Amino acid sequence: MARPLAYHPAHALNAICPYYTMFPLEYPFRVLKKHKEEAPIVLDPFCGRGTTIYAARELGLQAWGIDSSPIAVAIAKAKLATTSIEDVLLLAEIMIALEPEHVPETPFFKGAYHSRTLRQLCSLREGLLNLDEESNASIILRAAVLGCLHGPLNKTEETSAYFSNQMPRTFASKPDYSIKYWKERNLKAPNVRVIDVLARKLSRILNLGIDCVGNPDQILYSDSRTSEVYGKIPNDFSLVITSPPYYGMSTYIQDQWLRMWFLGGPETVDYKIKDQLKHSSQDAFINSLAIVWGNISRSQSNKLDLYVRFGSVPSIESDPKYLLRSSLEESGVWKIISTRNASTSEVGRRQATQMVDDSTAAVEYDFHAIRV
Ligand SMILES: C[S@@+](CC[C@H](N)C(=O)[O-])C[C@H]1O[C@@H](n2cnc3c(N)ncnc32)[C@H](O)[C@@H]1O
Repeated sequence: MARPLAYHPAHALNAICPYYTMFPLEYPFRVLKKHKEEAPIVLDPFCGRGTTIYAARELGLQAWGIDSSPIAVAIAKAKLATTSIEDVLLLAEIMIALEPEHVPETPFFKGAYHSRTLRQLCSLREGLLNLDEESNASIILRAAVLGCLHGPLNKTEETSAYFSNQMPRTFASKPDYSIKYWKERNLKAPNVRVIDVLARKLSRILNLGIDCVGNPDQILYSDSRTSEVYGKIPNDFSLVITSPPYYGMSTYIQDQWLRMWFLGGPETVDYKIKDQLKHSSQDAFINSLAIVWGNISRSQSNKLDLYVRFGSVPSIESDPKYLLRSSLEESGVWKIISTRNASTSEVGRRQATQMVDDSTAAVEYDFHAIRV
């Protein structure tokens, strides 16, 4: 089997920061290549870390993304940035040179980061939060820090790819669990210089300086159920490629609480955050999705194609085909023209494999619908 594009060095920009349930690059590439001759304007209303957006950039197509998670937006914006590694590192050095006003003192932060590393991270956090003006360099810097914020320990500090003590890279474990885990195994946070870790990460991103047809403002922080956000997108988008949250997967922001802290959030997990799709019942979920499909259908383009990758989370019993079909039916304007099992086309490259080992992963489907 060919090596998944996710690990290809040419696509290191797409991998600037992992994201829970990101979909494989192969999927948007396949769809975009099919429609490339039509020069479509592309939209992903649940853009996550911006895989669709990145694939469109690579093919020279204009793409817009919407997501209600600030973390997703920060990462997806990087997919439309063009800058140089030198500019990003210079900005980081200027920020790190300033003394931070506040450094967290909770047991979690003390265990997660070496005191010197934490001070540098706090300087960067405050520097990025207090910026007068956003630039492509600050967008890449923010996404790169988010990508290095937590992950597995390296054998040596000189080769560290992450700033933290042992943690998963796709989501942040909860504070009490982490503290216990480090204590039981006597694990210590590495004494790493933030700038060195960033330089290593950025040096692998080969396409950072290549011009791009779009810009980071094309990623919108919003709930895709609201109709207003579509007023900020060209009204003739003609190709939608997306993957909504799977039914029951409603904790995107809480699972990313440490990245959320870096973006200005609290030092603990915030369970109050809303703006995600409703998962209280299957009907509420179908209705939530139908609102988004209805919003999209109002594009002024003569032809409108919708491609959706959708599955289920292994821990919650649901029928993804039923949920997706019902939501499209409820919106009243879509006709499904094909449904295929994603796992038969891209075994080992599915979204669900990010969550559990392949043997227990639930099935995923690729739907193609057209507006009628
Ligand atoms: C399955 S993920 C998308 C992953 C994406 N395909 C990628 O490759 O990174 C679903 C995304 O939908 C977002 N989301 C959930 N409810 C939303 C809403 N009401 N409006 C916009 N985005 C929403 C989540 O924050 C999450 O990033």
